Amino acid sequence: VWSSVPLAPPDSIFALTARYVADTNPKKINLGVGAYRDNNGKPWVLPVVKKASRQLEETDRDHEYLSITGLPAFTNAAQKLVFGEDCEAVKEKRIVSVQTLSGTGANHLAALFISRFYQFTKDKEIYISNPTWANHNAIISNVGLNPVSYPYYNPKTIDLDFEGFVKSIESMPERSVILLHSCAHNPTGVDPTAEQWETLAELFLKKGHYAFFDSAYQGFATGDLDRDSGSVRLFASKRIPMLVCQSFAKNAGLYNERVGALHVVGASEEEATRIKSQLSVLQRSEISNPPAYGACLVSLILTKPELFEEWKRDITTMSSRIIEMRDRLFNKLEELKTPAPAGRSDWGHIKSQIGMFSFTGLTKAQCDSLVNNYSIYLTANGRISMAGLNTNNLDRFAECVDEVVRG
Ligand code: LMR
Repeated sequence: VWSSVPLAPPDSIFALTARYVADTNPKKINLGVGAYRDNNGKPWVLPVVKKASRQLEETDRDHEYLSITGLPAFTNAAQKLVFGEDCEAVKEKRIVSVQTLSGTGANHLAALFISRFYQFTKDKEIYISNPTWANHNAIISNVGLNPVSYPYYNPKTIDLDFEGFVKSIESMPERSVILLHSCAHNPTGVDPTAEQWETLAELFLKKGHYAFFDSAYQGFATGDLDRDSGSVRLFASKRIPMLVCQSFAKNAGLYNERVGALHVVGASEEEATRIKSQLSVLQRSEISNPPAYGACLVSLILTKPELFEEWKRDITTMSSRIIEMRDRLFNKLEELKTPAPAGRSDWGHIKSQIGMFSFTGLTKAQCDSLVNNYSIYLTANGRISMAGLNTNNLDRFAECVDEVVRG
């Protein structure tokens, strides 16, 4: 029956993890998947999550279905976390928040909703940054929309191509749907500055564009949850039509619990009600209703002041360890006098990039060599997950980079 089914290529990120796990080299290093590790290279269960789990165990929790749109205590608190308590749209009840299967589920539901209901000026295109998280392409194509790249990153300077980005936004058809990473851009670690976000917001207003925000790293950029939501809050304050896909995988370390939300901002409470009714229809046919455990944990963390404060401290622990690794890696490469990538006079971009990832500027051939000859796993585009580095493996990583760069 399935003789005509072609073999699909493995997922670029998860295939690396599988190769890393199968590798018997005791010196192997996994810098592939974006998942936080502690200084011993181990997954880190946030202390606040342990505390919240214990509290949850003590309650008389049943296993009844959640509603189709999820746990209200979670979706309400998640909405406030991303938009801020003072957001007009929050106060005016114009935001529809639906619990999803983490950020991927939010991206999917958002793209599906757009494919059904958005009135495109031209072809069903969604503009995505070049480069972007590899899964964006697949998620968008799967619902029958066309992902089209906009310039974002300049490989020559290993920095933001703001000019190209702006020109492209200006030349897109009016009312285009544009996917933006709210902070800690994946894979480049390069974000617009606050001033550049202002310029972008004005352009969105002028052209009537729709902002499709992916917020997977709130807290990971600056360590400050409010600051990391600055782009989203700016756009919301200017009443730019928008939605936000939110994940708690990274900032709460709840990768396999699949905790996330989609927030669609409507023009009025009445419009929000209609949007919610359609999102419910879509969600019902796909997952019926979302899982409860992770959402219960996060709602406790977001609503109990002492847990929320502890969570913020845990986020600082993670973000500051990553910043420390950036400094150490930069210093080690300087010490080794490793030739910087083409277009750069030094490795300063390792320090200036933001969030979980660094876009090293290593070529595909250099990355392949690191994987195949040194058991150092990183994606072929030169992205490394900074969280995979620690004080035990950082020197080895820098020395191997030095070797492959010198050829
Ligand atoms: C990544 O980019 O490594 C993470 O977001 C994990 C994933 O789902 O790809």
